[in-house]
Amino acid sequence: MKQIQMLDLKFEYEYIKDDIDAAIRRCLEHQKWILGPEVKELEEKMAGYLGVKHCIGVASGTEALLLSLRALAIKIKKQEYWDKDDLIITTPFTFTATGDTILRSGATPIFVDIDPQTFNIDTENIRIALDKYGAKIKGIIPVHLYGQPCDMTEVMNIAKENGIFAVEDCAQSFGAKFIGKQTGSFGNTGCFSFFPSKNLGGFGDGGMISTSDDDLAEIIRMLLKHGGKDKYNVEHIGYNARLDTLQAAVLLAKFKYIDEFNRKRQKAANIYNEGLKDLGFIEIPFVINDAYHVYHQYTIKLKKVNRDEAINQLNLRSVQTMIYYPYLLPEMDLFQKRCKTIGKLKNAGEISFMVLSLPIEPLYDDDTFRYVIKCLAELKNTENIKN
Ligand SMILES: Cc1ncc(COP(=O)(O)O)c(C=O)c1O
Repeated sequence: MKQIQMLDLKFEYEYIKDDIDAAIRRCLEHQKWILGPEVKELEEKMAGYLGVKHCIGVASGTEALLLSLRALAIKIKKQEYWDKDDLIITTPFTFTATGDTILRSGATPIFVDIDPQTFNIDTENIRIALDKYGAKIKGIIPVHLYGQPCDMTEVMNIAKENGIFAVEDCAQSFGAKFIGKQTGSFGNTGCFSFFPSKNLGGFGDGGMISTSDDDLAEIIRMLLKHGGKDKYNVEHIGYNARLDTLQAAVLLAKFKYIDEFNRKRQKAANIYNEGLKDLGFIEIPFVINDAYHVYHQYTIKLKKVNRDEAINQLNLRSVQTMIYYPYLLPEMDLFQKRCKTIGKLKNAGEISFMVLSLPIEPLYDDDTFRYVIKCLAELKNTENIKN
Protein backbone atom coordinates (compact mmCIF):
# COMPACT_ATOMS: atom_id res chain seq x y z
CA MET A 1 0.00 0.00 0.00
CA LYS A 2 1.20 3.49 -0.88
CA GLN A 3 2.35 5.49 2.14
CA ILE A 4 -0.15 8.18 3.17
CA GLN A 5 2.07 11.09 4.04
CA MET A 6 1.41 14.20 6.08
CA LEU A 7 1.98 16.06 2.81
CA ASP A 8 2.98 14.97 -0.68
CA LEU A 9 5.09 17.78 -2.09
CA LYS A 10 5.95 15.87 -5.29
CA PHE A 11 2.25 15.50 -5.98
CA GLU A 12 1.74 19.25 -5.40
CA TYR A 13 4.63 20.07 -7.73
CA GLU A 14 3.10 17.94 -10.49
CA TYR A 15 -0.21 19.80 -10.03
CA ILE A 16 1.31 23.26 -10.58
CA LYS A 17 4.43 22.27 -12.49
CA ASP A 18 3.84 24.57 -15.46
CA ASP A 19 3.57 27.68 -13.26
CA ILE A 20 6.61 26.74 -11.20
CA ASP A 21 8.81 25.81 -14.15
CA ALA A 22 7.92 29.04 -15.96
CA ALA A 23 8.66 31.10 -12.81
CA ILE A 24 12.08 29.48 -12.38
CA ARG A 25 12.86 29.87 -16.07
CA ARG A 26 12.17 33.62 -15.84
CA CYS A 27 14.76 33.88 -13.04
CA LEU A 28 17.31 31.94 -15.08
CA GLU A 29 16.78 34.43 -17.87
CA HIS A 30 17.04 37.65 -15.85
CA GLN A 31 19.76 36.46 -13.38
CA LYS A 32 18.76 39.01 -10.70
CA TRP A 33 19.26 36.68 -7.77
CA ILE A 34 19.37 39.17 -4.88
CA LEU A 35 16.21 41.21 -4.25
CA GLY A 36 15.14 40.61 -7.83
CA PRO A 37 11.78 41.70 -9.27
CA GLU A 38 9.94 38.64 -7.93
CA VAL A 39 10.65 39.68 -4.32
CA LYS A 40 8.99 43.08 -4.84
CA GLU A 41 6.07 41.55 -6.72
CA LEU A 42 5.46 38.98 -3.97
CA GLU A 43 5.68 41.66 -1.27
CA GLU A 44 3.13 43.84 -3.06
CA LYS A 45 0.74 40.99 -3.79
CA MET A 46 0.89 39.72 -0.22
CA ALA A 47 0.39 43.19 1.28
CA GLY A 48 -2.78 43.50 -0.83
CA TYR A 49 -3.96 40.01 0.15
CA LEU A 50 -3.32 40.52 3.87
CA GLY A 51 -4.67 44.08 3.91
CA VAL A 52 -1.52 45.73 5.32
CA LYS A 53 0.66 48.61 4.11
CA HIS A 54 3.92 46.65 3.89
CA CYS A 55 5.11 43.11 3.36
CA ILE A 56 8.83 42.50 3.61
CA GLY A 57 10.41 39.27 2.38
CA VAL A 58 12.93 37.67 4.75
CA ALA A 59 15.04 34.51 4.87
CA SER A 60 12.74 32.45 7.15
CA GLY A 61 9.88 32.60 9.64
CA THR A 62 12.48 32.62 12.39
CA GLU A 63 14.16 35.71 10.93
CA ALA A 64 10.72 37.31 10.56
CA LEU A 65 10.21 36.98 14.33
CA LEU A 66 13.73 38.09 15.20
CA LEU A 67 13.72 41.13 12.92
CA SER A 68 10.28 42.16 14.23
CA LEU A 69 11.46 42.00 17.84
CA ARG A 70 14.72 43.79 17.08
CA ALA A 71 12.91 46.52 15.12
CA LEU A 72 10.48 47.02 18.02
CA ALA A 73 13.40 47.39 20.46
CA ILE A 74 14.98 49.99 18.15
CA LYS A 75 11.70 51.87 17.72
CA ILE A 76 10.36 51.69 21.28
CA LYS A 77 13.47 51.46 23.46
CA LYS A 78 15.90 53.25 21.14
CA GLN A 79 18.28 50.33 21.72
CA GLU A 80 19.58 47.63 19.42
CA TYR A 81 18.31 44.87 21.72
CA TRP A 82 15.78 44.46 24.52
CA ASP A 83 17.19 44.08 28.04
CA LYS A 84 17.02 40.80 29.98
CA ASP A 85 14.49 42.38 32.35
CA ASP A 86 12.12 43.06 29.47
CA LEU A 87 9.53 40.29 29.33
CA ILE A 88 7.66 39.02 26.27
CA ILE A 89 4.65 36.75 26.78
CA THR A 90 4.07 33.72 24.61
CA THR A 91 2.77 30.16 24.57
CA PRO A 92 4.86 27.18 25.72
CA PHE A 93 3.15 24.99 23.10
CA THR A 94 4.79 26.14 19.89
CA PHE A 95 7.86 25.64 17.73
CA THR A 96 11.23 26.50 19.33
CA ALA A 97 11.71 29.60 17.17
CA THR A 98 8.86 31.50 18.84
CA GLY A 99 10.77 31.41 22.11
CA ASP A 100 14.38 31.47 20.97
CA THR A 101 13.91 34.65 18.94
CA ILE A 102 12.76 36.35 22.16
CA LEU A 103 16.11 35.37 23.70
CA ARG A 104 18.02 36.44 20.58
CA SER A 105 16.33 39.85 20.75
CA GLY A 106 17.75 40.27 24.29
CA ALA A 107 14.44 39.85 26.16
CA THR A 108 13.18 37.07 28.44
CA PRO A 109 10.23 34.87 27.43
CA ILE A 110 7.37 34.44 29.87
CA PHE A 111 5.30 31.38 29.08
CA VAL A 112 1.62 31.26 29.98
CA ASP A 113 -0.78 28.32 29.70
CA ILE A 114 -2.95 27.53 26.70
CA ASP A 115 -6.65 26.99 26.23
CA PRO A 116 -7.22 23.20 26.38
CA GLN A 117 -9.69 23.26 23.49
CA THR A 118 -8.00 25.49 20.91
CA PHE A 119 -4.37 24.85 22.03
CA ASN A 120 -3.77 28.60 21.54
CA ILE A 121 -2.61 30.99 24.25
CA ASP A 122 -5.27 31.60 26.93
CA THR A 123 -5.89 35.34 27.07
CA GLU A 124 -6.94 35.15 30.73
CA ASN A 125 -3.40 33.97 31.50
CA ILE A 126 -1.95 36.93 29.59
CA ARG A 127 -3.86 39.18 32.01
CA ILE A 128 -2.54 37.22 35.01
CA ALA A 129 1.02 37.70 33.75
CA LEU A 130 0.42 41.42 33.30
CA ASP A 131 -1.00 41.72 36.83
CA LYS A 132 2.10 39.99 38.19
CA TYR A 133 4.85 41.67 36.16
CA GLY A 134 3.27 44.99 35.13
CA ALA A 135 5.47 47.36 33.14
CA LYS A 136 8.25 44.78 32.76
CA ILE A 137 6.11 43.18 30.10
CA LYS A 138 6.81 44.74 26.71
CA GLY A 139 4.87 42.56 24.33
CA ILE A 140 2.96 39.40 23.40
CA ILE A 141 3.54 36.83 20.68
CA PRO A 142 0.28 35.00 19.97
CA VAL A 143 0.82 31.93 17.77
CA HIS A 144 -1.99 30.90 15.42
CA LEU A 145 -1.25 27.24 16.01
CA TYR A 146 -2.13 24.63 13.37
CA GLY A 147 -3.75 27.40 11.28
CA GLN A 148 -6.40 28.41 13.81
CA PRO A 149 -6.38 32.15 14.61
CA CYS A 150 -6.17 33.31 18.21
CA ASP A 151 -8.92 35.61 19.47
CA MET A 152 -7.14 38.70 18.13
CA THR A 153 -9.83 41.10 19.33
CA GLU A 154 -9.02 40.13 22.89
CA VAL A 155 -5.23 40.02 22.31
CA MET A 156 -5.24 43.51 20.75
CA ASN A 157 -7.50 44.88 23.51
CA ILE A 158 -5.01 43.64 26.10
CA ALA A 159 -2.09 45.06 24.11
CA LYS A 160 -3.74 48.48 23.81
CA GLU A 161 -4.90 48.65 27.43
CA ASN A 162 -1.36 47.91 28.60
CA GLY A 163 0.63 49.80 25.99
CA ILE A 164 2.51 46.71 24.83
CA PHE A 165 3.20 45.36 21.35
CA ALA A 166 1.80 42.26 19.67
CA VAL A 167 3.83 40.28 17.14
CA GLU A 168 1.69 37.60 15.49
CA ASP A 169 3.41 34.29 14.78
CA CYS A 170 1.62 33.39 11.54
CA ALA A 171 4.09 30.66 10.54
CA GLN A 172 1.19 28.18 10.36
CA SER A 173 -1.67 30.46 9.38
CA PHE A 174 -1.25 31.83 5.86
CA GLY A 175 -4.78 32.75 4.72
CA ALA A 176 -6.43 32.21 8.13
CA LYS A 177 -8.82 34.92 9.30
CA PHE A 178 -10.42 36.15 12.48
CA ILE A 179 -13.60 38.26 12.23
CA GLY A 180 -12.98 38.31 8.49
CA LYS A 181 -9.49 39.85 8.82
CA GLN A 182 -6.30 38.08 7.83
CA THR A 183 -3.93 36.91 10.53
CA GLY A 184 -0.87 39.12 10.32
CA SER A 185 -3.01 42.27 9.96
CA PHE A 186 -3.85 42.74 13.66
CA GLY A 187 -0.52 43.08 15.46
CA ASN A 188 2.40 45.47 15.09
CA THR A 189 3.82 42.84 12.76
CA GLY A 190 2.84 39.41 11.44
CA CYS A 191 5.53 36.79 10.83
CA PHE A 192 5.05 34.16 8.14
CA SER A 193 7.13 31.09 7.31
CA PHE A 194 7.50 29.55 3.87
CA PHE A 195 9.26 26.43 5.16
CA PRO A 196 8.43 23.76 2.54
CA SER A 197 5.84 21.98 4.71
CA LYS A 198 3.87 25.14 5.49
CA ASN A 199 0.51 25.63 3.79
CA LEU A 200 2.30 28.14 1.57
CA GLY A 201 5.74 26.58 1.32
CA GLY A 202 8.74 27.42 -0.85
CA PHE A 203 11.50 25.20 -2.21
CA GLY A 204 13.73 25.99 0.77
CA ASP A 205 13.59 28.51 3.61
CA GLY A 206 11.73 31.79 3.36
CA GLY A 207 9.57 34.17 5.36
CA MET A 208 7.58 37.40 5.27
CA ILE A 209 6.84 40.22 7.70
CA SER A 210 3.58 42.13 7.40
CA THR A 211 3.08 45.53 9.03
CA SER A 212 1.20 48.77 8.60
CA ASP A 213 3.76 50.68 10.66
CA ASP A 214 6.02 52.74 8.34
CA ASP A 215 8.80 53.11 10.96
CA LEU A 216 8.98 49.39 11.63
CA ALA A 217 8.98 48.62 7.91
CA GLU A 218 11.90 50.99 7.40
CA ILE A 219 13.93 49.52 10.27
CA ILE A 220 13.20 45.93 9.19
CA ARG A 221 14.34 46.70 5.64
CA MET A 222 17.64 47.94 7.10
CA LEU A 223 18.09 44.97 9.46
CA LEU A 224 17.60 42.41 6.73
CA LYS A 225 20.46 43.77 4.70
CA HIS A 226 23.28 44.33 7.18
CA GLY A 227 21.66 47.13 9.20
CA GLY A 228 21.61 50.15 6.93
CA LYS A 229 19.96 51.72 3.93
CA ASP A 230 23.42 51.68 2.41
CA LYS A 231 24.99 48.30 3.13
CA TYR A 232 28.47 49.84 3.00
CA ASN A 233 27.60 52.40 5.71
CA VAL A 234 25.25 50.92 8.31
CA GLU A 235 23.70 52.16 11.55
CA HIS A 236 22.28 48.99 13.17
CA ILE A 237 23.51 45.50 14.02
CA GLY A 238 22.01 43.80 11.03
CA TYR A 239 21.79 40.45 9.27
CA ASN A 240 21.92 38.99 5.84
CA ALA A 241 18.30 37.86 5.99
CA ARG A 242 16.85 38.58 2.56
CA LEU A 243 14.27 36.43 0.83
CA ASP A 244 15.88 34.81 -2.24
CA THR A 245 14.60 35.84 -5.65
CA LEU A 246 14.23 32.18 -6.59
CA GLN A 247 12.09 31.44 -3.52
CA ALA A 248 9.95 34.50 -4.25
CA ALA A 249 9.42 33.24 -7.81
CA VAL A 250 8.30 29.80 -6.58
CA LEU A 251 6.08 31.40 -3.93
CA LEU A 252 4.46 33.73 -6.49
CA ALA A 253 3.55 30.69 -8.56
CA LYS A 254 2.15 28.84 -5.51
CA PHE A 255 0.41 31.93 -4.09
CA LYS A 256 -2.13 31.72 -6.95
CA TYR A 257 -3.33 28.43 -5.45
CA ILE A 258 -3.30 29.24 -1.74
CA ASP A 259 -7.05 29.87 -1.36
CA GLU A 260 -7.89 26.73 -3.34
CA PHE A 261 -5.44 24.67 -1.26
CA ASN A 262 -6.73 26.09 2.03
CA ARG A 263 -10.31 25.25 0.97
CA LYS A 264 -9.19 21.71 0.15
CA ARG A 265 -7.63 21.44 3.63
CA GLN A 266 -10.94 22.57 5.13
CA LYS A 267 -12.79 19.94 3.09
CA ALA A 268 -10.43 17.25 4.35
CA ALA A 269 -10.94 18.52 7.92
CA ASN A 270 -14.72 18.24 7.49
CA ILE A 271 -14.38 14.64 6.31
CA TYR A 272 -12.19 13.84 9.32
CA ASN A 273 -14.60 15.64 11.69
CA GLU A 274 -17.59 13.66 10.43
CA GLY A 275 -15.77 10.33 10.57
CA LEU A 276 -14.06 10.81 13.94
CA LYS A 277 -16.51 12.76 16.05
CA ASP A 278 -18.35 9.73 17.45
CA LEU A 279 -15.37 7.48 18.10
CA GLY A 280 -15.30 8.32 21.80
CA PHE A 281 -11.56 8.17 22.30
CA ILE A 282 -10.79 11.02 19.89
CA GLU A 283 -11.48 14.71 20.32
CA ILE A 284 -11.71 16.55 17.00
CA PRO A 285 -10.38 20.14 16.64
CA PHE A 286 -12.43 22.85 18.30
CA VAL A 287 -12.84 25.99 16.19
CA ILE A 288 -13.64 29.30 17.89
CA ASN A 289 -16.40 31.62 16.67
CA ASP A 290 -15.44 34.02 13.88
CA ALA A 291 -12.38 31.94 12.97
CA TYR A 292 -11.43 30.87 9.45
CA HIS A 293 -9.17 27.91 10.27
CA VAL A 294 -6.84 26.83 7.44
CA TYR A 295 -5.72 23.51 8.96
CA HIS A 296 -2.01 23.78 8.49
CA GLN A 297 -2.32 20.74 10.71
CA TYR A 298 -5.36 18.63 11.48
CA THR A 299 -4.64 17.68 15.08
CA ILE A 300 -6.74 15.42 17.28
CA LYS A 301 -6.57 14.70 20.99
CA LEU A 302 -6.30 11.01 21.83
CA LYS A 303 -8.01 10.00 25.04
CA LYS A 304 -7.75 6.58 26.71
CA VAL A 305 -5.53 5.37 23.88
CA ASN A 306 -1.79 4.88 24.19
CA ARG A 307 -0.37 7.36 21.68
CA ASP A 308 2.81 5.42 20.89
CA GLU A 309 0.76 2.33 20.20
CA ALA A 310 -1.64 4.36 18.05
CA ILE A 311 1.25 5.77 16.00
CA ASN A 312 2.65 2.28 15.60
CA GLN A 313 -0.70 0.83 14.49
CA LEU A 314 -1.26 3.64 11.99
CA ASN A 315 2.25 3.23 10.69
CA LEU A 316 1.63 -0.49 10.11
CA ARG A 317 -1.33 0.60 7.98
CA SER A 318 0.90 3.02 5.98
CA VAL A 319 -0.46 6.16 7.63
CA GLN A 320 2.12 8.75 8.68
CA THR A 321 1.40 10.92 11.73
CA MET A 322 3.33 13.59 13.61
CA ILE A 323 3.42 15.00 17.13
CA TYR A 324 3.46 18.79 17.24
CA TYR A 325 4.86 19.31 19.89
CA PRO A 326 6.23 16.58 22.15
CA TYR A 327 8.01 19.04 24.51
CA LEU A 328 6.97 22.39 25.93
CA LEU A 329 9.49 25.17 25.39
CA PRO A 330 10.20 25.74 29.11
CA GLU A 331 11.12 22.03 29.43
CA MET A 332 14.04 22.46 27.04
CA ASP A 333 17.56 23.04 28.34
CA LEU A 334 17.77 26.26 26.37
CA PHE A 335 14.88 27.88 28.20
CA GLN A 336 15.05 26.32 31.66
CA LYS A 337 17.23 29.01 33.19
CA ARG A 338 16.24 31.74 30.79
CA CYS A 339 12.47 32.02 31.05
CA LYS A 340 9.62 32.74 33.41
CA THR A 341 6.35 30.82 33.61
CA ILE A 342 2.94 31.63 35.00
CA GLY A 343 1.63 28.69 37.01
CA LYS A 344 2.32 25.07 36.15
CA LEU A 345 1.26 25.19 32.48
CA LYS A 346 -1.02 22.25 33.25
CA ASN A 347 -3.11 22.33 30.06
CA ALA A 348 -0.08 22.55 27.78
CA GLY A 349 1.63 19.75 29.71
CA GLU A 350 -1.36 17.40 29.42
CA ILE A 351 -2.04 18.22 25.81
CA SER A 352 1.53 17.62 24.67
CA PHE A 353 0.95 13.95 25.62
CA MET A 354 -2.37 13.70 23.76
CA VAL A 355 -2.03 15.46 20.40
CA LEU A 356 -1.60 13.69 17.10
CA SER A 357 -1.52 15.36 13.68
CA LEU A 358 -2.95 13.44 10.73
CA PRO A 359 -2.16 13.58 6.98
CA ILE A 360 -3.59 16.77 5.48
CA GLU A 361 -2.30 16.78 1.91
CA PRO A 362 -4.80 19.06 0.11
CA LEU A 363 -4.59 17.02 -3.10
CA TYR A 364 -5.47 13.65 -1.57
CA ASP A 365 -8.92 12.41 -2.55
CA ASP A 366 -11.77 11.88 -0.08
CA ASP A 367 -11.20 8.13 0.01
CA THR A 368 -7.68 8.60 1.33
CA PHE A 369 -8.98 10.57 4.31
CA ARG A 370 -11.72 7.95 4.79
CA TYR A 371 -9.06 5.25 4.88
CA VAL A 372 -7.23 7.15 7.65
CA ILE A 373 -10.53 7.38 9.57
CA LYS A 374 -11.03 3.61 9.16
CA CYS A 375 -7.53 2.98 10.54
CA LEU A 376 -8.21 5.27 13.49
CA ALA A 377 -11.50 3.50 14.21
CA GLU A 378 -9.57 0.24 14.48
CA LEU A 379 -7.60 1.72 17.38
CA LYS A 380 -10.66 0.99 19.49
CA ASN A 381 -8.96 -2.36 20.15
CA THR A 382 -6.02 -0.58 21.79
CA GLU A 383 -8.28 1.47 24.11
CA ASN A 384 -7.22 1.62 27.74
CA ILE A 385 -3.68 0.43 27.07
CA LYS A 386 -1.76 2.66 29.43
CA ASN A 387 1.21 4.79 28.44
C1 LIG B 1 4.91 28.40 15.07
C2 LIG B 1 6.17 28.59 14.28
N1 LIG B 1 6.93 29.67 14.51
C3 LIG B 1 8.07 29.89 13.82
C4 LIG B 1 8.50 29.01 12.86
C5 LIG B 1 9.81 29.27 12.18
O1 LIG B 1 9.73 29.34 10.79
P1 LIG B 1 10.97 28.90 9.88
O2 LIG B 1 11.10 27.42 9.95
O3 LIG B 1 10.58 29.39 8.51
O4 LIG B 1 12.17 29.61 10.38
C6 LIG B 1 7.73 27.87 12.58
C7 LIG B 1 8.12 26.92 11.52
O5 LIG B 1 8.66 25.92 11.59
C8 LIG B 1 6.55 27.65 13.32
O6 LIG B 1 5.80 26.57 13.10
